[in-house]
Amino acid sequence: MNIVNVDYDGLIPNNVGLNSDQRVKAALEKWHPGYLDWWNDMGPEGFQQSLVYLRTAVSVDPKGWAKFDYVKMPDYKWGILLAPQVDDRKIPFGSHKGEAAWQEVPGEYRAMLRRLIVIQGDTEPASVEQQRFLGKTAPSLYDMRNLFQVNVEEGRHLWAMVYLLQKYFGTDGREEAEALLQRRSGDTDTPRMLGAFNEETPDWLSFFMFTFFTDRDGKMQLEALAQSGFDPLSRTCRFMLTEEAHHMFVGETGVGRVIECTCAAMKQAGIQDPNDIQAVRKLGVIDLPTLQKKLNLHFSLTLDLFGNEISTNAANAFHAGIKGRFREDKLEDDHKLENSTYPISRLVDGKISSVDVPALSALNMRLRDDYVADCAAGVGRWNRVPEKFGIAFQLTLPHVAFHRQIGEFSKVKADIAGAVMTDKEWESRKGDFLPSDSDREFIESLMKPEFEPGKFASWIAPPKTGIDNKSGDFEYVKIAD
Ligand SMILES: [Fe+2]
Ligand SMILES: [Fe+2]
Repeated sequence: MNIVNVDYDGLIPNNVGLNSDQRVKAALEKWHPGYLDWWNDMGPEGFQQSLVYLRTAVSVDPKGWAKFDYVKMPDYKWGILLAPQVDDRKIPFGSHKGEAAWQEVPGEYRAMLRRLIVIQGDTEPASVEQQRFLGKTAPSLYDMRNLFQVNVEEGRHLWAMVYLLQKYFGTDGREEAEALLQRRSGDTDTPRMLGAFNEETPDWLSFFMFTFFTDRDGKMQLEALAQSGFDPLSRTCRFMLTEEAHHMFVGETGVGRVIECTCAAMKQAGIQDPNDIQAVRKLGVIDLPTLQKKLNLHFSLTLDLFGNEISTNAANAFHAGIKGRFREDKLEDDHKLENSTYPISRLVDGKISSVDVPALSALNMRLRDDYVADCAAGVGRWNRVPEKFGIAFQLTLPHVAFHRQIGEFSKVKADIAGAVMTDKEWESRKGDFLPSDSDREFIESLMKPEFEPGKFASWIAPPKTGIDNKSGDFEYVKIAD
């Protein structure tokens, strides 16, 4: 078996030697039709027969792993791809630090591992469900192709998690794999497991914000799981991260192109004041204050995915060597954290203060702090655009206490600077912070499809370069009638 190149001979492309593992192969082949039913029901609506210029992984070599070609999405080669095994890999943290990485599930951590894999797995199909109507209002064929690329890769990520469940968790793994196809984003009876994955993605600005903020949570979780002492999980996540980078690119450049388009239109019309919302909207572009409100919404919804400030689950998973920190292998400390503390924001007598707590119980917050720093770097890159146009407007991340549903700050109302306010103040001011109905209606009014090759909707600038170095008028999706 060649672990770098992918075996495309069978029904399920893979680099895990599926042909010599009849039990798992049979289990996956049994799961496959249900997956396709799910994809046909819940995947991109209206474009299943269209030819989409997609990348498919042909190798897991970081230097080059994809080939591009036209494919109908239901025929996409979803496969099981693990990053190459590291020789002699050791568990990098926790109470088993320095022991050989596990190639089988350690019995005592079986339930914990299964739970983590199921939660990660559940987010993958959820985002496909959330985004299924967006193709119809794509601002260009380029953007439509990027949406579908993200969608098929989230589908593949579901395969990645289902492979782990089927291979390592026996009957209950099989049941969990089935249940992953049954839950539905936003469904009242059988919702997806996490809040942000039950929200709607009603328009393209939401999609770009989602891929920037919420896929970035995915990146952080995968980075933490890529450190796992359970080697098959580590290898799976390492390869998923190479795909995830594109999702983040779609979000960052998507929002960046919206800002670019708005600033260019303002400049051309001689509008100096970014807060003159009505004048800016008349130009058919999205005003910067509304962009800020969308940012506030998606950032705050995503922070909830990091869970509670103090978490024994996170402490246990670290102690067990199952889930590490962001770039654990680059950190310089004892990697056990039994005697260290970590500062977190908490409510003390109704005020937000920094409090030192045992580092093990604060691991969610540590990952969240790394996440916030990663977001802030991207926001800084966005802010170069108004600067370039000489427009006095800077996007900012709201305070972590703003608009929270989970953890300490769900008990209070806070503004974007983190000042605690009364319920009454919140009711009268929330429209300043979050998109109002009329903001949403305005954004929706711009969502007119643009399906002519090389053309873009009024509210978004073309990308600097094409996918796979294609020219500007390349037909990224050949739409079937
Ligand atoms: Fe994913
Ligand atoms: Fe993603």
